[in-house]
Amino acid sequence: MLVSMSINGQTHSHDVEPRMLLVHYIREMAELHGTHWGCDTSNCGICVVLMDGDPIKSCTTLAAMAEGHEITTVEGLEKNGVLDPIQQGFHEMHALQCGFCTPGMMVTGRALIDQHPNPTQMTDYEIREAISGGLCRCTGYVNIVKAIRWAAAYEAAAATGGN
Ligand code: FES
Ligand code: FES
Repeated sequence: MLVSMSINGQTHSHDVEPRMLLVHYIREMAELHGTHWGCDTSNCGICVVLMDGDPIKSCTTLAAMAEGHEITTVEGLEKNGVLDPIQQGFHEMHALQCGFCTPGMMVTGRALIDQHPNPTQMTDYEIREAISGGLCRCTGYVNIVKAIRWAAAYEAAAATGGN
């Protein structure tokens, strides 16, 4: 079946088997390998991408279900060679070690900041709840929480001309 979607602002159309998972569409058809593939059973959260701004697990979403939707992967965060603040935050706060969970954590953090009514006032509980669908074997999550908070503060400062 022909499946078309926007990935990071570019239209992709491919003839695929109806059973193809979105994670495989992204990695094999669109050739974007930043989205990782781990458990394949919706447990690890490694494969999270944004669909119309909301985090979803692309290992348990059919490519056909993304037909006509806007998908954002970790590659879509950076703009014109400038890291998104959430990416910068992970760098500043040393929020990764092996990096396997990182793309999913970054897009999840991006969605949390975008959807929170007052990102600089996010509680640790809110951040931890938002990333609870993702498993990180390395960091203990503390620095991931700090990175998301760093990005929220950075964007708030930028909005008032403070950076
Ligand atoms: S690969 Fe999708 S949740 Fe683990
Ligand atoms: S940095 Fe290794 S799994 Fe999270």
